[in-house]
Amino acid sequence: MPDGYRDWIFLSSGLDMSYSKAAEMAGHSMFDNVFVDRAAWQGFKATGHWPDRTMLVMEVRGANSRGSINEHGQYQSDERMGVEIHVHDEARFKGGWAFFLSDGSSPAQQVPYEAECYACHLKHGAVDTTFVQFYPTAKTIAIRSGTFRAD
Ligand code: HEC
Repeated sequence: MPDGYRDWIFLSSGLDMSYSKAAEMAGHSMFDNVFVDRAAWQGFKATGHWPDRTMLVMEVRGANSRGSINEHGQYQSDERMGVEIHVHDEARFKGGWAFFLSDGSSPAQQVPYEAECYACHLKHGAVDTTFVQFYPTAKTIAIRSGTFRAD
């Protein structure tokens, strides 16, 4: 579990993103925050691809609406609901990439290759099995580098 990911590069947040048309999360609003390690970001800026040993982290937090002076809109909860990690390592993983899950404690658990994570990311991820289409700054770089695959 890469404890220091909050010092990494912030790619974007999603709010209540859902991968199916049926609303699964009735009553549970959630943010996700996506980060990438700094060395990988330098490589991505130069080439539009994620270099070997890239790590991306997606942190999930609840969405709160009542607190302090807030009257409208939503902000992120103090508690983390989970951490998902996407790791690029050509020598170590089948297909070069693997997913891990963590509740914040170490070590994170690798997700088996049969899980739907791999198929969806491979089929729909715009760059190297990652969802750069939802990370605006990275998206601009990928388009400019010619590595962006439109859906
Ligand atoms: C049906 C499609 C789909 C499936 C299945 C899926 N994801 Fe994703 N994943 C996405 C989308 C869309 C995003 C972009 C989220 C955002 O913008 O906040 C994403 C983003 C991520 C990221 C951020 C880095 C990246 O690769 O873009 C991680 C880490 C991640 N998912 C892990 C997982 C794990 C672990 C699983 C399986 C337990 C999984 N995903 C299953 C669609 C999927």
